[in-house]
Amino acid sequence: MTRYETLFETLPLSPKKWLISGVAGFIGSNLLETLLKLDQYVIGLDNFSTGHKHNLEEVRKEVTAEQWRRFEFIEGDIRNLEVCEQACSSVDYVLHQAALGSVPRSLNDPITTNSTNIDGFLNMLVAARNAAVKSFTYAASSSTYGDHPGLPKVEDVIGKPLSPYAVTKYVNELYAEVFARCYGFNTIGLRYFNVFGKRQDPEGAYAAVIPKWTSSMIKDESVFINGDGQTSRDFCFIENTVQANLLAATTTDKNALNQVYNVAVSGRTDLNMLFSILKNELLKNNIPYKKEVVYRDFREGDVRHSQADISKIQSLLGYDPQFNIEQGIKRAMSWYVDFLN
Ligand SMILES: NC(=O)c1ccc[n+]([C@@H]2O[C@H](COP(=O)([O-])OP(=O)(O)OC[C@H]3O[C@@H](n4cnc5c(N)ncnc54)[C@H](O)[C@@H]3O)[C@@H](O)[C@H]2O)c1
Repeated sequence: MTRYETLFETLPLSPKKWLISGVAGFIGSNLLETLLKLDQYVIGLDNFSTGHKHNLEEVRKEVTAEQWRRFEFIEGDIRNLEVCEQACSSVDYVLHQAALGSVPRSLNDPITTNSTNIDGFLNMLVAARNAAVKSFTYAASSSTYGDHPGLPKVEDVIGKPLSPYAVTKYVNELYAEVFARCYGFNTIGLRYFNVFGKRQDPEGAYAAVIPKWTSSMIKDESVFINGDGQTSRDFCFIENTVQANLLAATTTDKNALNQVYNVAVSGRTDLNMLFSILKNELLKNNIPYKKEVVYRDFREGDVRHSQADISKIQSLLGYDPQFNIEQGIKRAMSWYVDFLN
């Protein structure tokens, strides 16, 4: 039995109280759904800046009425320390997801990205430390590898940040490390690599590539590739990311604490391949896409190639990703077809 399978058996037997910041977002709402289905108590914090009420509404439909009653929502901003303290009180495990994502957003508005991702992060860290929570797991990012060309990416070899967003996520890691050193407060950072799946927002200027292209293809609009299409990513299905969070939060291994981990599948898919995978999957859903892809300039701040070495999270946390990109896209696509039609 894997550690994750064991968790699925043991967690419902002694429900804990979890705090998910960014609960109305893509990753947060998927964490919420899994935890409620495991009969856990969940406090959710969000200010709906990029998250949506409809994500919470959808989770409500996925769980029983009794499970939904175990969820308490706080509408608030992590830039407000009092809100963070209220949210952290009497919580066992914190899964801190709230942040402003997107490299281009950070290039257009570095100040708001900084205040949310750094001031907000620090507030959450202080509040969690003061509340003496059992564990603090936070969303770090593969953008921290910056301009380092090495592949696959190994946790302790990083380059210079390529965007304000990358700076903020690296500063999170530095604060986390300092909180361990100065206050003995343990954390785990999860460097997500291009997560995708249901409820990832397809709308808006800062949408991620999979929901953006899927939405364009379903609406029969043009799909744009920034660059030559050979830019590659280690796309990670949301269920793998959820698994990493639950394993990190509940680990009792001291060697596993105060670490950052890559969360991915160690795959490498370039944008041309991604376009084909999406097109084929849409065809299986009776949505043929006939347009050719449109190539345009490379985008500033983007890392050229990204592929994770996942041996650290496998060995220290027992992570065992269950979905590769094709399996993930198949599941995500049926959701997008329903959602966008
Ligand atoms: N999706 C990815 O591929 C990816 C990759 C690397 C890292 N991450 C990180 O994972 C986390 C979750 O990302 P996501 O893809 O679910 O994004 P998302 O935008 O769907 O979710 C973020 C949530 O945080 C909330 N939020 C933002 N600012 C807030 C504030 N000041 N106070 C309270 N809530 C606030 C938003 O309303 C939203 O619901 C983020 O920290 C992001 O940087 C995501």
